Amino acid sequence: MVSPHHRLTPCAMLAAMSHVSNDRPQIVLDCDPGHDDVIAIVLAAHTTNLLGITTVAGNAPLDRTTYNACVMRDAMQLDTTVHSGAERPLVAEPKFAGYVHGASGLDGAELPAPSHGADSTDAVSFIIDTCRQNEGVWLVPTGPLTNIALALRTAPDLVDRIAGISLMGGGTFGNRTPLAEFNVWADPHAAAMVFDCGAPITMAGLDVTHQFLVTPPRIEQVEAINTPFSSMITDLFRFFARNYLSRHEHMVGAALHDPLAVMALTHPHLFIGVDRHVTIEMEGRHTTGMTVIDRRDMIGQEAPNAHVLERVDHEAAWAIVLDALAAASNRAAHA
Ligand code: RIB
Ligand code: CA
Repeated sequence: MVSPHHRLTPCAMLAAMSHVSNDRPQIVLDCDPGHDDVIAIVLAAHTTNLLGITTVAGNAPLDRTTYNACVMRDAMQLDTTVHSGAERPLVAEPKFAGYVHGASGLDGAELPAPSHGADSTDAVSFIIDTCRQNEGVWLVPTGPLTNIALALRTAPDLVDRIAGISLMGGGTFGNRTPLAEFNVWADPHAAAMVFDCGAPITMAGLDVTHQFLVTPPRIEQVEAINTPFSSMITDLFRFFARNYLSRHEHMVGAALHDPLAVMALTHPHLFIGVDRHVTIEMEGRHTTGMTVIDRRDMIGQEAPNAHVLERVDHEAAWAIVLDALAAASNRAAHA
C-alpha cells in the first residue's frame, strides 16, 4: 500500500505523463540570473517548449538579472523573449546575493553584449497572457516568487489554467539563514501567496539541490566541449564553484539549484518526492522565510499542497545538463 504521501500528485502525474508522452512541457521560466539560473535557461531551451523568460530582482538588482537573461537569449540564439518584472519584493526590503554571484549577478566570465534589452518590461502581463493563450503552461520560478505572486493576484483564474508551478526554493534547512533559503527568504510574502494558491506545486528545495554539485571533474567536461560558449560557461562555473567552496566547510562543488526545477518536469523519473503541506514562516525572529514542511503522519493534519523533492539521480541529471550545454554550444558556434 503506497502511503498517501507517496501517491503521485496531479503535478507529479502530469510531469510523469509529459515525460512518457514525450511532449515537451510548455514553460515560462521566471529567473534571477544568477549562475545556476543560466543553466536552467540552457536546459529549458533544450528540453522544453520555452514560451518566454521573465526576470525578477534576486541574485542581483533587476537591471542586472534582466541584462544577464538577455545575454543568454542572444548568446544561445534563443527563439524566445525576455520580460522584466519586479524590481523589489512585495513587502520586504530588496536583498541581493552578490556574495555568491558577484555584483553583476553573473561575475566570472566575459559576457557577450546582447543585441537589445528586454522585449518588454511587463513580466506579469506576459505571464498572464501566455497562460491564458496556452493550455497547461508550467510556471518555473528559480528566483524570488514576486512575479508569480503578482500574476496570481492579478489573475486568479491562472490557478485553474496552468499545469502547475515547478519552483526552486525552500528546504528543511537554509542557506541565507540556518532555516531560510534565499528565494523564499528574499520575498516570503510572495512565497506564502504561491504556496497557498491551490495550483499543483513541485518544490526543488536545498535538500535535493545540494545533491547536484558542479565539481571540478564536471567543469572539465564542460571545458572539453571547447567552444566560445562552453568556455564562457566554464568560467562562470569556476567562479560559482570558487565562491561556494570558499564559504562551505565540506562541499566539493557548487550546488546547481535551478535546473532541477526544470528537470523535475522533463525527467521526473530521476527524482523521489513526497507530498507535503508547506507553509512559510513570516514572523519568526530566527525563522522568517523558512518553508515549514509538515512531515508528520497525523490524522487530520493539513492536506499536502506541494510535491517536495527529496532525492535526485545526480549522475543522470548531470549527463542531461552536459548534453544541453553541448547542444547550446554547438548552436552558438554555428549561429
Ligand atoms: O538558494 C538558491 C537560489 O537562490 C537559486 O535560485 C539561486 O540562483 C538564488 O536565486
Ligand atoms: Ca535563481
